[in-house]
Amino acid sequence: MAISMLLAAVLLAAVSFGESSYIAYNTTGGIVPGKINVHLVPHSHDDVGWLKTVDQYYVGGNNSIRGACVQNVIDSVISALLDDENRKFIYVEMAFFQRWWRQQSKKLQTRVKELVKSGQLEFINGGMCMHDEATPHYIDLIDQTTLGHRYIKDEFGQTPRVGWQIDPFGHSAVQAYLLGAELGFDSLFFARIDYQDRARRKDEKTLEVVWQGSKSLLSTSQIFTGIFPRHYDPPDGFVFEINDISPPIQDDVLLFDYNVEERVNDFVAAAVSQANVTRTNHIMWTMGTDFRYQYANSWFRQMDKLIHYVNKDGRVNALYSTPSIYTDAKYAANEIWPLKKDDFFPYADHPNAYWTGYFTSRPAFKGYVRMMSSYYLVARQLEFFKGRNSTGPNTDALADALAIAQHHDAVSGTQRQHVAADYAKRLSIGYVEAEELVSSSLAFMAESRLITGPANPITKLQQCPLLNISYCPPSEAVLSDGKSLVVVIYNPLGWKREEVVRIPVSTERLIVHDSSGKEIESQLLPVVNASSHTRNFYVKAYLGKSPSGTLKYWLAFSASVPPLGYSTYIISSAKQTGASSTISKVQTSEGNKNSTIEVGQGSLKLLYSADEGKLTHYINSRSLVTAFAEQSYSYYSGNDGTDKDPQASGAYVFRPNGTFPIKSEGQVPLTVMQGPILDEVHQELNPWIYQVMRIYKGKEHAEVEFTIGPIPVDDGVGKEITTQITTTLKTNKTFYTDSNGRDFIKRIRDYRADWDLQVNQPVAGNYYPINLGVYVQDDSMELSVLVDRSVGGSSLVDGQIELMLHRFVLPFVIC
Ligand SMILES: *[C@@H]1O[C@H](CO)[C@@H](O)[C@H](O)[C@H]1NC(C)=O
Ligand SMILES: *[C@@H]1O[C@H](CO)[C@@H](O)[C@H](O)[C@H]1NC(C)=O
Ligand SMILES: *[C@@H]1O[C@H](CO)[C@@H](O)[C@H](O)[C@H]1NC(C)=O
Ligand SMILES: *[C@@H]1O[C@H](CO)[C@@H](O)[C@H](O)[C@H]1NC(C)=O
Ligand SMILES: *[C@@H]1O[C@H](CO)[C@@H](O)[C@H](O)[C@H]1NC(C)=O
Ligand SMILES: *[C@@H]1O[C@H](CO)[C@@H](O)[C@H](O)[C@H]1NC(C)=O
Ligand SMILES: *[C@@H]1O[C@H](CO)[C@@H](O)[C@H](O)[C@H]1NC(C)=O
Ligand SMILES: *[C@@H]1O[C@H](CO)[C@@H](O)[C@H](O)[C@H]1NC(C)=O
Ligand SMILES: *[C@@H]1O[C@H](CO)[C@@H](O)[C@H](O)[C@H]1NC(C)=O
Repeated sequence: MAISMLLAAVLLAAVSFGESSYIAYNTTGGIVPGKINVHLVPHSHDDVGWLKTVDQYYVGGNNSIRGACVQNVIDSVISALLDDENRKFIYVEMAFFQRWWRQQSKKLQTRVKELVKSGQLEFINGGMCMHDEATPHYIDLIDQTTLGHRYIKDEFGQTPRVGWQIDPFGHSAVQAYLLGAELGFDSLFFARIDYQDRARRKDEKTLEVVWQGSKSLLSTSQIFTGIFPRHYDPPDGFVFEINDISPPIQDDVLLFDYNVEERVNDFVAAAVSQANVTRTNHIMWTMGTDFRYQYANSWFRQMDKLIHYVNKDGRVNALYSTPSIYTDAKYAANEIWPLKKDDFFPYADHPNAYWTGYFTSRPAFKGYVRMMSSYYLVARQLEFFKGRNSTGPNTDALADALAIAQHHDAVSGTQRQHVAADYAKRLSIGYVEAEELVSSSLAFMAESRLITGPANPITKLQQCPLLNISYCPPSEAVLSDGKSLVVVIYNPLGWKREEVVRIPVSTERLIVHDSSGKEIESQLLPVVNASSHTRNFYVKAYLGKSPSGTLKYWLAFSASVPPLGYSTYIISSAKQTGASSTISKVQTSEGNKNSTIEVGQGSLKLLYSADEGKLTHYINSRSLVTAFAEQSYSYYSGNDGTDKDPQASGAYVFRPNGTFPIKSEGQVPLTVMQGPILDEVHQELNPWIYQVMRIYKGKEHAEVEFTIGPIPVDDGVGKEITTQITTTLKTNKTFYTDSNGRDFIKRIRDYRADWDLQVNQPVAGNYYPINLGVYVQDDSMELSVLVDRSVGGSSLVDGQIELMLHRFVLPFVIC
C-alpha cells in the first residue's frame, strides 16, 4: 500500500512537471470585432544594395561593414513558417527571392509554393527592388515592377495586392496613381513623410488617407494609403532580433524573471497609444526592420507567446497578419478617409534634415541609368522586330541591371562607392549584350532593305556609347581611310523626329548623302574635349596655333527619322573640288569690338555680353519675344555638422551653410562657333566648370551641356554646384516640377498644401525632384527647362529657375 502510493506520487509529479514546461501556444486568433486588433506583420526590409552590393547582402559577404545575410533571412523564415501554420511573413524584394529560389530543391520549392498558396508567405510590392520615388523615370518603375510581378505570376500564380514603399525618402504622385491604383494595388504603405506633416496627422488621425495622385484620372487613381505613426520597425520594447532584443517574454515558472503580466501590460499600452492616433480599431505593427529575421525563430517565438498571452488577457486582440488582411479589415470598417492630393515631397525628418540632396547625388550615375533606360527601350523594340532569341544575345541582363538600379539606394545616389561601381558594372554587362542584339537587328533590317546594295553588304555595325567624350573610333578610322561610313539612326518614339546628329571625325572634306542619294547640308565643329584639362587645345589648334595632324571635329547634320523606324545616311570624302561640309566660323570674345555677341541662325537668337561673357537676352523673332535672360553659377557650402544640430549635408540631406557666386575665371570668356546647322557658345568658367550652349537652326530652344568636376574641396568645404536661369517673369512664388517624368505638380515657395509650413531651411526645404523638367510662367511667357537625368531644383526667386548640377559633400555621411 505504502509502496504503491509512493509510485502514484512520483507519477503525479512527472505529469505535472510535463504540463508546466510544455505550452501549446494558441496563435490561431483572427480579428475580434469590438476590440483593438493588433495586426502583427512580420517583415524584413532588404535593401538591394546600399552599404554592401546586392550579392554581398545576399550571401552575407563583407559582414564587417554590416552583418546582413539575406539567405539566412529567407532560409530561417521558411522553416519557421513550416513549423506553425498560423505564422505569416511578407516578402518584398524579388531580386533577392529569385537568388534564393534557384538554389532550393524541388521538394522545398513545392512546400514554399504551398506556403504562398495558403497565404502564410505573401509577396508584397513584388518588384525586383523597393524603388526610389524621386529620381527614377516612370517607365523604369513600370519595368522593374513588371519584372518582379511577372516572376511571381509565373512561379506562384499570384499578383501582389499591396504597395509597400516603407523606406523611400518621400513619395511621388506617380507612385500613388500609376504604380498603385492603376497597377491594381488595393493599398499602399510607407513610413517616411515630413516630420511636421506627421505630427499634425497624428493629432488629426489622418495618417491613413485616400490618395488621389492624378489630377485627370480621378476615380481610378485613388488608393488607400497608410503612413506609419513613426518608422517601419516595431513599437519600442518589441524588437526580437537575435543580437538586438527587447526583454523576451519569460513564461516558464521554473525559471527566474517570469514577466508575462508585465509584457502583456506593455503590449496593451503600446496598442492603446497607437490606436489613439488611428481611425478604426485596427492597427498595424511592423514587426521587423532592415535585414532582420537572420534567425527567424527569435522573432516568431516571442510573437507566438505574445499573441497567446495577450489574447488570454483579452483587453486587446493580437494576430499574425499581412498588409492585405489589414487592408480588408480597414475596408470592412466602412470608415470615411480624408483625401490626399499631389505628393509627399520634400521629406524632412527633422528641422535641418531635408532629404533633398539625393535628388542630385551621383549625377553621372543618374545620367548613365537614364541613358541605359532609353537604350533598353530601343533594344526591346529591335528584339521584337527581329524575333527574340533567349539563348542568343537578348535584353534580359540589361533589364535585371536596370531594375535593381531603381532601388532607393541606387539611382538615388546614396550608396557606398564600391556599390555604385557594382551597379554600373551590371549595367555595362547588360549594355554589351544588348548592343550585340541591336547591331544584329539593325543590320538585319537594313540589309533586308538593301540600302547599301548587294555589292556593299553591311559587315559590321558598330555603336559609340562614349560620344559624351567624343570617342568613336569606327567613324574616325573609316573616314580617315577614305572609305564611306553608313550611319543608321533609329527612332524608338512614336512620332517622326528631325534631330541634329553629331559624329566625331578626323578629316575635313566630307559630304553627307541621305538614302536617296541627295546631298545633305553638314557642318564641322572643332572638338573641344571637356573631359580633359587640355580642352582648349583643340580650339587653339583650329585657330592655327597648334601642331597639325591632331585635328578632330564633330560632323553635324540634320537627320529625319520616322516613328519606330530608322534612316540611313552615307558620309564619304568629298572630291577636292566639289561641295563639302562647312567648317564652322570660330571667334572668341577676346578683343571683340562688339560688346554684344548674337548667336542663332533660326528664329531663336541669344545675345551675350562679350566683356562679361554672359547671356543677357533671348529673342524669338517668330513669336516676337525679346526678353532679359541671364545664366549664372553659384555654390552652396555644405554644413559640416559641427553646429548645435550635428546634421551635416550628406548623400541624402541638403543643408547649406552659405551661398557663393561662381564668377568666370577664364581669360577668354566665350568661344563662339557658327555654321549652317548650329551655333555653339563655349564657356570655360574655371578649370572644373565647362559649358556649351547650342542653338540649332530649325529649333526654338537652346541646349546646354554642363561638364562639372572634379569639384575642389581641398579647402575642407563641401560644395553643391548650381546654375540659375533668371528672367523677369512675374511668377508669384510658383513653379512646376514633374512627377517621375509623367505629369507636372504646382509648387509654391515656402508653402505646403496640407499644413501650415514652419520654414526652417528656406533653400533645402524648397527643393523638389526633377526628372523631366521644371517651368515658371506668367501671363505672357513661360520658361521651361528639360533635363536629361534627374536633378534637384527650385525657384528660390521669382522669375528664376535653379538646378543643382553636382555636389561633393564632406564628410560623406550615410544617415
Ligand atoms: C485559440 O484561439 C482561438 C481564437 O482566439 C479560439 O477560437 C480557439 O478556441 C483557441 N483554441 C484553443 C485550443 O484554445
Ligand atoms: C568590402 O568592402 C570594401 C569597402 O569598405 C571594399 O573595398 C571591398 O572591395 C569589399 N569587398 C568585396 C569582396 O567586395
Ligand atoms: C491620446 O492622444 C491625445 C492627444 O492626441 C493625448 O493627449 C493622450 O494622452 C493620448 N492618450 C493615450 C492613451 O496615448
Ligand atoms: C540564337 O542564338 C544562338 C547563340 O548565338 C544561335 O546559336 C542560334 O542560332 C540563335 N537562334 C536563332 C533562331 O536565331
Ligand atoms: C561619359 O559617359 C559614361 C557612361 O556612358 C560615364 O561613365 C562618363 O563619366 C561620362 N563622361 C563624362 C565626361 O561625362
Ligand atoms: C578626351 O579626354 C578623355 C580623358 O582625358 C580621353 O580619354 C579621350 O580620348 C579624349 N577625347 C579626345 C577626342 O581626345
Ligand atoms: C556687331 O553686332 C551687330 C548686331 O549683332 C552686327 O550687325 C555687326 O555685324 C557686328 N559687328 C561685328 C564687327 O561683329
Ligand atoms: C559655416 O561656414 C563658415 C564660413 O563661412 C564656417 O566658419 C563654419 O564653420 C561653417 N559652419 C558649419 C556648421 O559648417
Ligand atoms: C499669388 O499667389 C497667391 C497664392 O499663392 C494668390 O493668393 C495671389 O492672388 C497671387 N497674386 C497674384 C498677383 O497673382
